[in-house]
Amino acid sequence: MILKKLAITFCISLLTLFVQSQSSVALTPPMGWNSWNLFEEEVSDKLIRQIADALVASGMTGAGYQYIVIDDFWVGGRNANNELFPDPVRFPNGMKALADYVHSKGLKLGIYSDAASLTCGGVTGSYNFEEADATTFAKWGIDYLKYDYCNAPDDMVTAFTRYKKMGDALRKTNRAIVYSICEWGQRQPWLWARAAGGHLWRTTWDMRDTWLSDKYDNGHNGIMNTIEKQKGLEKYAGAGGWNDPDLLVTGLFGKGKSSSLNGRFNGCTITEYRTQFAIWCMLASPLMVNLDVRTMDTTVKAILLNKELIAIDQDVLGNQATAIVDANGWLVLKKELSGDRYAICILNRNNATAAFSFNCETALKVYGQWNARELFSNRQLRTAKTLTGELAAHDCAIFIMSTANALKK
Ligand code: GLA
Repeated sequence: MILKKLAITFCISLLTLFVQSQSSVALTPPMGWNSWNLFEEEVSDKLIRQIADALVASGMTGAGYQYIVIDDFWVGGRNANNELFPDPVRFPNGMKALADYVHSKGLKLGIYSDAASLTCGGVTGSYNFEEADATTFAKWGIDYLKYDYCNAPDDMVTAFTRYKKMGDALRKTNRAIVYSICEWGQRQPWLWARAAGGHLWRTTWDMRDTWLSDKYDNGHNGIMNTIEKQKGLEKYAGAGGWNDPDLLVTGLFGKGKSSSLNGRFNGCTITEYRTQFAIWCMLASPLMVNLDVRTMDTTVKAILLNKELIAIDQDVLGNQATAIVDANGWLVLKKELSGDRYAICILNRNNATAAFSFNCETALKVYGQWNARELFSNRQLRTAKTLTGELAAHDCAIFIMSTANALKK
């Protein structure tokens, strides 16, 4: 009898631990570094260790960038026991040793696979080996899986089934692994990704290193194209599940491979990069940088380490901003923050410097008394009828507005 009771208690504790481990990840949007755009197939043990060192040395780890994600091309193949193994030349120490190193730096390690037999890059994927691969990832100490959808059937039911199979397999490992669903928003993953066990889901095709890709660019996504596609998805974002508008091109300056398509897109201005970062924070997006953190310049570093922007992204309420104005070249996003505050982002989409003036109540929907601070200029403001200013082309201003008891502070 006592033994039976003990066994039941043990099982309940295990179950609780397992539920906790799955529900305790991605409570705020994941932050980190991903290898894809800059390095593509040149991922290696040496590179990942150097990136880990640089994330710590640059202060990025301290600012919250936690995950190092090795994207496509790390796989060597499947051994006689059907276990995945890494490319033996580029990862001579194996993945466990690499994960141990990354963990010793206070960081977490992510990896990539695909819901088909081959990944987008054409190396071995996980289809039909979901449990085996999830077990292998857990054994290595992997903390994040980006799961792609190249070479898999188009329909939503198959996508859900394949993603859930891996989601269940990850859950079964009892390791807290962030599950990143990457089917590029083609099958409305915001409707089913959580049920498949996902913690974030791509909403768009891959991000290109350009401000706006027009119709001649064959539907590639520049920063503005991607932002457009986030409208209406805000209701699906929240603790444990995030819309993912793809990687930050901030600081790539046209050096990425996939993001530049071999020189077709040659990068953005520093203003445009700051705008991408600020808007990703407004949208409660995962903040995954792609640049070479070993050689960042100080301007780019200042953008990526902007504590106030990061705090907007990581706010505990987990709200994704809503577009409240989109007219005459102006886009205004509003995000409710904890502590009776709002972040308002005003973006000048025009190709020239322009002045703005928004009525606080009718346009910005901020009523009564308020205090505000504009982040980049440090301008302090108090209740006024209109919010006015001037912005260079593609620049944005962010205002943090406090409402309750604002004027007593
Ligand atoms: C797809 C994904 C990218 C990247 C590549 C790797 O294009 O959308 O983010 O992972 O595959 O091949």
